[in-house]
Amino acid sequence: MPALISPSILSADFANLERDLQRIAGADLVHVDVMDNHFVPNLTLGLPVVQRIAEVSPVPVDVHLMIDDADRWAPEYARAGAASVTFHAEATQAPVRLARELREMGVRAGLALRPASPVEPFLDLLTELDMILVMTVEPGFGGQSFIEGMLPKIARTRAAIDAAGTGTWLQVDGGISRATIARVAQAGADVFVAGSAVYGADDIAAEIAALRDLATL
Ligand code: DX5
Ligand code: ZN
Repeated sequence: MPALISPSILSADFANLERDLQRIAGADLVHVDVMDNHFVPNLTLGLPVVQRIAEVSPVPVDVHLMIDDADRWAPEYARAGAASVTFHAEATQAPVRLARELREMGVRAGLALRPASPVEPFLDLLTELDMILVMTVEPGFGGQSFIEGMLPKIARTRAAIDAAGTGTWLQVDGGISRATIARVAQAGADVFVAGSAVYGADDIAAEIAALRDLATL
């Protein structure tokens, strides 16, 4: 699969979201971080904003839920127009039931893991998942530095996906930049979230293209 770039609007100008969505029209997806100030110590945006983003975005919406009670709320984000909804393993009681519910609604179902959460308990569930998100920073804030220790976890996840033959996407999120993306791609990731690297660039379109080039093996 070619590398997919999913800029995170957490680093966009929240007073100019539509403009900043247009600026990433050359990306593959737009990553929307939903935080509830419980699962993570930060608060961002919720359903009405995601719904409007989905209406005006030039690219499909990749929702990353950093909220408690994902079983209750994830389907609402599917209804709001997301193309994919990723919930945290640590915030769901029943990941398979939730993933099936999302798929039945026609969206891609993603499972996210905090840095300290092992992937192994979930590797038998790959057939139920369209995406696994290996967090490469502690969720909650943009602009943190990449956790190098996540590279073996990414490689183990890649090996399991290839062995299972499920085609599950392997997303990484946190500290992805020109300095880190090639190593992360080599470890096996294929969907790359980048917030500060993209929105902090002088030429956003060129930055997206450069990241994609570096991630293409
Ligand atoms: C952090 C969010 C990320 C964040 C990444 O909890 O999940 O999506 O926007 O920001 P950067 O790319 O700046 O590390
Ligand atoms: Zn995210």
